[in-house]
Amino acid sequence: MRKEGMLMWDETIFRNPELFELDYLPDRFPHRDTQLDSIRYAIKPALRNTKPLNCLLYGPPGTGKTSASMKIFQELEDFSDKIVTVKINCQIDSTRFAVMARLYQKILGVTPPGSGISFNRIFEKVITKLVETDRTLIAVLDDINYLFYEGNANEVMYSLLRAHEQYPGSRIGVIAIVNDPTVIYGFDPRVASVFLPEEIEFKPYDLYEIDDILSDRIDMGFYPNVVSEDVKQEIVRFVAETGDLRSGIDLLKRSGMNAEKRASTKISSEDVKNAYEASRSNHFARLVKNMNENEQIILKAVHERSEISSGELYEIFNSLTNIGYTRFYEIVNKMVAAGYINAEFTGKGQKGRTRIFKPAFKTDDIKFFK
Ligand SMILES: Nc1ncnc2c1ncn2[C@@H]1O[C@H](COP(=O)(O)OP(=O)(O)O)[C@@H](O)[C@H]1O
Ligand SMILES: [Mg+2]
Repeated sequence: MRKEGMLMWDETIFRNPELFELDYLPDRFPHRDTQLDSIRYAIKPALRNTKPLNCLLYGPPGTGKTSASMKIFQELEDFSDKIVTVKINCQIDSTRFAVMARLYQKILGVTPPGSGISFNRIFEKVITKLVETDRTLIAVLDDINYLFYEGNANEVMYSLLRAHEQYPGSRIGVIAIVNDPTVIYGFDPRVASVFLPEEIEFKPYDLYEIDDILSDRIDMGFYPNVVSEDVKQEIVRFVAETGDLRSGIDLLKRSGMNAEKRASTKISSEDVKNAYEASRSNHFARLVKNMNENEQIILKAVHERSEISSGELYEIFNSLTNIGYTRFYEIVNKMVAAGYINAEFTGKGQKGRTRIFKPAFKTDDIKFFK
């Protein structure tokens, strides 16, 4: 017999489960019109067969940077066959060879020979094909910070941005995506002097925007009445703590799965709370993964000690990195500003007040450290 509010084993509350997948690109993409327009403006020259402007999209995780660039790719593909679009996920393709192989694959339609061929040879084939077919390449370098970790950022950018000097008639525009815009100060002058991007900021979404965007997913992704208004507001408030919409979509999905586990036709407040822990840990794991080594060392030291004075933290940091106080001070301040660690002043200390640092996250999240 069927019980009211209970799911049968073959029933589901998910009307369109694909809406909760990470690579899903929604039709409606609100609250990013300014950013989309700036990207369109930068790329427009390519439609007239002239060189586009480069872009730098920056902002914290889950603010729509990758999706915005994919929206633009969609428009370009519908609109023009004079443009080739390639997205490179630098976390996966983190060497200059891997980046070039990705371009080769899209532009020549086959995977490049794996060994015995030089980077320069692959690059030449890519560019020659572009010139022959009179097409402009728009390359998205998503999470470009990963190219810096192994020292590949400058060479990749140099190749792409100065290609026209070596191969006249080639046109390439680069859309670089980062969380922290200061990483681009890591470009050497010969790259910096030609990159000169349109800088496009993606701010964390506010309560109203999160509500609007998640409402779309709820309405289309779940069957009617699965999520009550109260539960929705609870989710929106959770997501507004970080402004990370990806964690919000993840939270919806996990809450839904919790409800199904109970065979319930509705998501309860309890389902959301249970999912939130997992979702928040995920957010933290991503955040740590995106930090550079120096930041990770500081984060780890703060978590291990749970409370540490500025002086002690510097000693640990300096002994591991050999980096001096001025730079340490900059890094720590940036991390406090980003909410990765908390800072407080104490009355103690010989010269008056001392700064102490505390974790901004639960200590068991430390399992995510490299
Ligand atoms: N304005 C928006 N409207 C609808 N969905 C959005 C919007 N911004 C982000 N999203 C969704 O949030 C998730 C994270 O977005 P993403 O583009 O991956 O962020 P980022 O690249 O900045 O980390 C994706 O699932 C995306 O579909
Ligand atoms: Mg992204």
